[in-house]
Amino acid sequence: MSAVIESHQQPLRLAVLISGSGSNLQALIDASQRADSPFEIALVISNRADALGLERAQRAGIPTQTLSHRGFETRAAYEAALNDLLDQVAPGLIALAGFMRILTAEFVEHWQGRMLNIHPSLLPSYPGLHTHERVIEAGDSVHGATVHFVTAELDSGPAILQGRVRVLSDDDPARLAARVLEQEHRIYPLAARWFAEGRLALGSDGRTKLDGEPLDSPVIIDANA
Ligand code: GRF
Repeated sequence: MSAVIESHQQPLRLAVLISGSGSNLQALIDASQRADSPFEIALVISNRADALGLERAQRAGIPTQTLSHRGFETRAAYEAALNDLLDQVAPGLIALAGFMRILTAEFVEHWQGRMLNIHPSLLPSYPGLHTHERVIEAGDSVHGATVHFVTAELDSGPAILQGRVRVLSDDDPARLAARVLEQEHRIYPLAARWFAEGRLALGSDGRTKLDGEPLDSPVIIDANA
């Protein structure tokens, strides 16, 4: 009779914070459902009750919570309630996926090294909103998205992965956004996988490390390569 080898390693518990469509959440759900996924989605939190992403999570049997920021007098009070929800599932990683709230430095520090964000530009270029419009207006030839560890500054923090696309001469913001989104759906699950496998970390020096080596620049996935 052969011995049964049991692995005691649990999949990493991921919490995903959303506000809207949740297409990145969907990409993370799809990745988490693969047999070899090193992470599972333990909770999805939205600050908006009408976020389509909540339906995506419910369809996949993932617990959801809606926590509206309205009714909280301060950001800190809202985040205390957010932390109460998060603490119930003790996530190993938080993925911000279109979560349209600015977070306080205290919240960010609490989760430092355990919180990722995805932003639709090649950071450090174009932090903030309306990135696709701004890229077209500037006449850039390359655009994309960045997964980064979250630090206290808006849309900044050590970059991990970038997905790049070419800007076409007849692009409008919607068409460009759709191609960037395709890359987002590739790079976010990949970064989560690397983190869950213990390959990716934020060093105490504030630099991203992949397989123990500091990443001086993000890993690039080029849609046109
Ligand atoms: C994405 O463009 C992401 O980069 C940004 O917000 C958008 C969220 O889209 N942070 P979705 O809700 O994942 O479809």
